[in-house]
Amino acid sequence: QFEGITMAPPDPILGVSEAFKADTNELKLNLGVGAYRTEDLQPYVLNVVKKAENLMLERGENKEYLPIEGLSAFNKVTSELLFGADNPVLQQQRVATIQGLSGTGSLRIAAALIERYFPGSKVLISSPTWGNHKNIFNDARVPWSEYQYYDPRTVGLDFAGMIDDIKAAPEGSFILLHGCAHNPTGIDPTPEQWEKIADLIQEKNHIPFFDVAYQGFASGSLDQDASSVRLFAARGMELLVAQSYSKNLGLYGERIGAINVLCSSADAATRVKSQLKRLARPMYSNPPIHGARIVANVIGIPELFSEWKKEMEMMAGRIKSVRQKLYDSLSVKDKSGKDWSFILKQIGMFSFTGLSKAQSESITNKWHVYMTKDGRISLAGLSSAKCEYLADAIIDTYYN
Ligand code: LMR
Repeated sequence: QFEGITMAPPDPILGVSEAFKADTNELKLNLGVGAYRTEDLQPYVLNVVKKAENLMLERGENKEYLPIEGLSAFNKVTSELLFGADNPVLQQQRVATIQGLSGTGSLRIAAALIERYFPGSKVLISSPTWGNHKNIFNDARVPWSEYQYYDPRTVGLDFAGMIDDIKAAPEGSFILLHGCAHNPTGIDPTPEQWEKIADLIQEKNHIPFFDVAYQGFASGSLDQDASSVRLFAARGMELLVAQSYSKNLGLYGERIGAINVLCSSADAATRVKSQLKRLARPMYSNPPIHGARIVANVIGIPELFSEWKKEMEMMAGRIKSVRQKLYDSLSVKDKSGKDWSFILKQIGMFSFTGLSKAQSESITNKWHVYMTKDGRISLAGLSSAKCEYLADAIIDTYYN
């Protein structure tokens, strides 16, 4: 009976938001979940999203079911945004794209595809990675192991370790890569390192599996943030890409994203797409329509598209400026001479502080600063006004 069911632990990321809500202290700061906030620490709905929604209301669109694969206008623009509209892989119709329930749902469908058609194949994930990756592959019964990624001594990339582990993986493994702005570390390979990673993956017949959750949001440029995926695609490799519009369009609650499978022929892409649909149908039948229409309008209508790019630059710019301010505050306040410049080298919404689990707990208890226990802070949840407070909290926690 249900009596036998034990209590599940809180989610390492979303559980932090629950704990934050319960805290009544005025100084509290939620740097846990990766969700963009304004300088007043309020959620932000993009103007382009409001415009697209107005348009949808004016058109009086209905709420019928979407096909299993999602909104076709969305699937078209999302793959174009990812690969570039003039990419030959699209002209050759080699990409199978279906709409997914944001990043998580798209990854979950891909995991189901791996489980069904590559039984026993392993997925390699970075150590560390976004906590939900492990849950997704566990629940899909896909075996996984970790490749070295983070070097605590430099708070940078352990490139040699990464290469060793990818080399040692059984031929034909799936290698999960963060397209840009690695979560949780904010540390990305350089373009030269990406080339070497691609060389090795090709040599070993591995299949790259990208998680792209921050396109345009990391650097401010949509093309630049997709360059890792495009580099692999240009080499003629087969690959998987999960996309999310949670961060770059602020559509967190709409659950809008996609899974793209780049195949070696149009024929294979048609077959793969049919199987993706077959996997999606018993899971959730068909995806939600509202977010798909928003994205299709924003990318598809030139004025909205250029306005979106400006808003994204604004958001990415605000995150960069608090990153700089946090670094400045830490450098001025920390009299030990510690070099905090690793913070400036990281990109995207997150910064990996190097704080341990115990320190992450202590900064929450003493300073009401909420963050994940792996030492990650979301800079998107920080304001300039709070940088000094956070720097005090980090230094106090770090040295005590
Ligand atoms: C995060 O890493 O904070 C976000 O991707 C939100 C989530 O779903 O965990």
